Amino acid sequence: MSRKIVVTSALPYANGPIHIGHLVEYLQTDIWVRFHKLCGNECLYFCADDTHGTPVMISAKKAGITPEEMIDNVHKEHKADFDGFHIEFDNYYSTHSPENKEFSELIFNRLNEKGSIVKRDVEQAYCENCKMSLPDRFVRGSCPKCKAENQYGDSCEVCGTTYRPSDLVNPYCATCNTPPVMKTSEHYFFRLADYEQPLRELLTSGHTQQSVANKLDEWFSAGLKDWDISRDGPYFGFKIPGEENKYFYVWLDAPIGYMASAKNYCDNNNLDFDALWPGTNSGKGGEGQYELYHFIGKDIMYFHALFWPAMLIASGIKTAEKLFVHGFLTVNGEKMSKSRGTFIKASTYLNHLNPEYLRYYYASKLSDSIDDIDLKVDDFINKINSEVVGKIANLASRSVPMLTKNLDSTLGKLDEEGQDLIKKLVTASEQIVNDYEKLKYAAVVRTITALADEANRFVEIKQPWATIKTDPEITRTNLTAVINAMRILTIYLKPILPKFAESVEKILNIEPLRLADLDQVLENCKIGKFERLAERIDEKQVNAMIEESKIETQNTETATQNSELKTENSAFEPIKPECTIDDFAKIDLRVAKVKTAETVEGADKLLKLVLDVGGIEKNVLAGIAKAYKPEDLVGKMVVVLANLKPRKMKFGLSEGMILASGPGGSEVFMLTVDSGAKPGESIH
Ligand code: 2FM
Ligand code: ZN
Repeated sequence: MSRKIVVTSALPYANGPIHIGHLVEYLQTDIWVRFHKLCGNECLYFCADDTHGTPVMISAKKAGITPEEMIDNVHKEHKADFDGFHIEFDNYYSTHSPENKEFSELIFNRLNEKGSIVKRDVEQAYCENCKMSLPDRFVRGSCPKCKAENQYGDSCEVCGTTYRPSDLVNPYCATCNTPPVMKTSEHYFFRLADYEQPLRELLTSGHTQQSVANKLDEWFSAGLKDWDISRDGPYFGFKIPGEENKYFYVWLDAPIGYMASAKNYCDNNNLDFDALWPGTNSGKGGEGQYELYHFIGKDIMYFHALFWPAMLIASGIKTAEKLFVHGFLTVNGEKMSKSRGTFIKASTYLNHLNPEYLRYYYASKLSDSIDDIDLKVDDFINKINSEVVGKIANLASRSVPMLTKNLDSTLGKLDEEGQDLIKKLVTASEQIVNDYEKLKYAAVVRTITALADEANRFVEIKQPWATIKTDPEITRTNLTAVINAMRILTIYLKPILPKFAESVEKILNIEPLRLADLDQVLENCKIGKFERLAERIDEKQVNAMIEESKIETQNTETATQNSELKTENSAFEPIKPECTIDDFAKIDLRVAKVKTAETVEGADKLLKLVLDVGGIEKNVLAGIAKAYKPEDLVGKMVVVLANLKPRKMKFGLSEGMILASGPGGSEVFMLTVDSGAKPGESIH
């Protein structure tokens, strides 16, 4: 009996790019979804951008666009990144949608009817200049304990103390530096403790991994606190029914976005949402026809193991069968770091490497535990080269060309030894299926590589390169076994390497492989043309990716500020400490003529310019390659920061900075000056 399954991944914030840390979750989920599809189950995968909240509102304002424009742009970027990694959502939607508004209001009203919403005054920081309430992270000041300057309003990054924004010494608004005032406002709270009993029942019934349940126990022991679910305007979000200037806190409508994405899919595909996710109509929840699973990272457990199920239970809507929690990504044993170039955006990775290599590497590291996984660069290169290229793809290189060149592309029939090999491979399916289901992908990969070793040993023993000269028919029989082994390994690998599997299907001239195809063998048929299935990774490609990531960070420090990167991670960069008029007077801006301009190998965002600054030549590396062609720049009069201390960059020395601005990418606009100006002239 096939199963019907709905799967979600956490919704990424719409104010920053997808990076390789995010990809742990989307790849873990996508592999699970593809595994179920391979098994013949109906499996629907829903996600969306998490669009609401103060950071999105402020990032949009800084970029000079509306929040709606900003979330549209980010949606396109996120979707392109996910497509690039073959992450196949059935619907990738947005929390800023009519379905989400309707469900958020429905759930809020049901909580209210249950008496689980209360109103209370809260004191909050307010910036009279920005005319807005400031979330804790948007107030900065000195730590009340260690006096470290420039700390966030909730905790000190130096001594680790946690406090309230009102405890900061000399607090100021992170956007405009104005000291905030404290204001009282009435907020809505959800009484989480009303649902302690059903939450305990849910969480002791195997809803999460044991390590997560242990953490939850600690929270239960500490006592469940009321949850503040409203924010005062201006705020980018949904208005609370009956209120003029109060909005749902972003975390209230974010998980409801899972339902909104599913509903939107159902409406577009003629499916009954009530059967898929029961309870919005009837308020009766229940099991429905579909199993439901959420994948999340361990940083958002509190929201998904307490608030979210409590909201659903209170509203009579189905809760998930399971919450799968994973750990974070470290790179070379450390947190991802911008300065080390290990804060790698999905799009940067795709500029240099095959997405399936990351899919394979993460799979080889992932288990059902919430421990962090480490991407070790050397290990990554070795693993791909030795396993994907050396063991798995090699089976095709050792068999297909010989069949096409010498044996009329035609398979024979398995002999007894061939049958034994295939039987051994097929027998592993139970273990593999079990491990996939339980998220033990590292074990899946270990089993598959051991089987590939087995098949390669078969080739070594049979020596087809020798027998082809003496006994073509024996060779055909043996290569038929190798091809069948390759086909079985491809079935096992398909959730991890979907494009690799497509190429194998093309080479073997067969329909898309499913798990049920393990029962059959390919005999006495023609195969298609050979194509290489995988290329070795050269260390240079990885280095170039790391360098590009470093440069992206450096570019945020140059005059061509890139707002896309500034919004990375969560909020936005605070305004830097004051610069005096004397500091400013040090800046020496000059007219410069572009003498030569060329691209920089390995850095697709950089152009190398030689500038004539009134008889003095300066080399400048500028992050404008996505916006300008080198040949269009030669002869242009630009403005250069002429007294910038030369900086040694990976691609050479940069002795100045040209003035440009814009949101980044292809939208960077250089300041050019009238052609009457002379190189070297001062600009004031
Ligand atoms: O932590 C985050 O990145 C959130 N945007 C996740 C939201 S998941 C769900 F609740 F929407
Ligand atoms: Zn302000």
